Amino acid sequence: MIYNQWYVVLDSKELKKNKPLKIKRFSENLVLWRNDDGSISCIHDQCCHRGASLSCGKIVDGKVECPFHGFLYDKSGKVTTIPANGKNASVPESMKVKYYKTYENYGLIWVWYGAEEKITAEPFFFTELKDFSYSSFKDHWGVHYSRSIENQLDVVHLPFVHKTTIGKGNKTLVNGPVVEREGEMITFYVNNVVDDGHTKPLKPEEIKDYKDFFYLKFHYPNIWQNFIADKVRAFAAFVPVDEENSIVYIRFYQKFIKIPVLKQIVNYFGKVSSIIILRQDKRIVITQIPKKSTLRMDEKLIIGDKPIIEYRKHREELMAENNK
Ligand code: FES
Ligand SMILES: [Fe+2]
Repeated sequence: MIYNQWYVVLDSKELKKNKPLKIKRFSENLVLWRNDDGSISCIHDQCCHRGASLSCGKIVDGKVECPFHGFLYDKSGKVTTIPANGKNASVPESMKVKYYKTYENYGLIWVWYGAEEKITAEPFFFTELKDFSYSSFKDHWGVHYSRSIENQLDVVHLPFVHKTTIGKGNKTLVNGPVVEREGEMITFYVNNVVDDGHTKPLKPEEIKDYKDFFYLKFHYPNIWQNFIADKVRAFAAFVPVDEENSIVYIRFYQKFIKIPVLKQIVNYFGKVSSIIILRQDKRIVITQIPKKSTLRMDEKLIIGDKPIIEYRKHREELMAENNK
């Protein structure tokens, strides 16, 4: 994990008002709840009294009540009431659990994972998607989120894994890919072609018109956008669960159809095709060993893996900077 980052952790619609939700993220059990005013709280999901899961409790006046002995926790993870000691008894400072800052926008919920003094006002999002409509789904993958991310940066796999869908046409030869890094964003330009047996693939520096290619963007720590067309995009968030599990949230975005019912039909079919493509990926990715990638690991990479190499390098840099 890279510390001091906003991570997408949930889709907004998964968190209902006044109902605690248990999730595992960053290898930790968390409880989230949404108050009447829509604000979101997130604290460690284990009572400091005798270890019960707070998410089995209920929400009382914006606080979560432990189901075991009724301790009340506020949004900063502090116990405010110990019923057995009396409503008005003071509570020792040490009675608390860890809490996390949250942010919500664009139908997504982020959690700040890192030091509070390093917090940035708001997470990055591809704001150009604001005037698109979308359909979405999520899928659990039995690999670390680094593997789910790398799959979406992998241009070499297209004609093999997606032979029947987006990889049709046997375009096995990989030109480039050209990879650009700007801050915490990586953009990579894809140009796969059919191998005629005598043309050599172009090296990234030999490609001048790469801006005309199909491209994808990844922004650390965990979101991605596929630029399918001006008015059609795919979006993904790769949510870290633990060392061997992640959840992939996929959205199909479009803005060429705006008529209400028609829009829903188009979005529905966009979603179905995304599911088919993602399942093709998943079948293979969950077989990868190890389940987590690192910069220095025993994999023999090729030039077409440049986006993956760049992702690993930059992640290592961010970890060196933040995980002290
Ligand atoms: S275990 Fe939570 S109040 Fe006792
Ligand atoms: Fe794929």
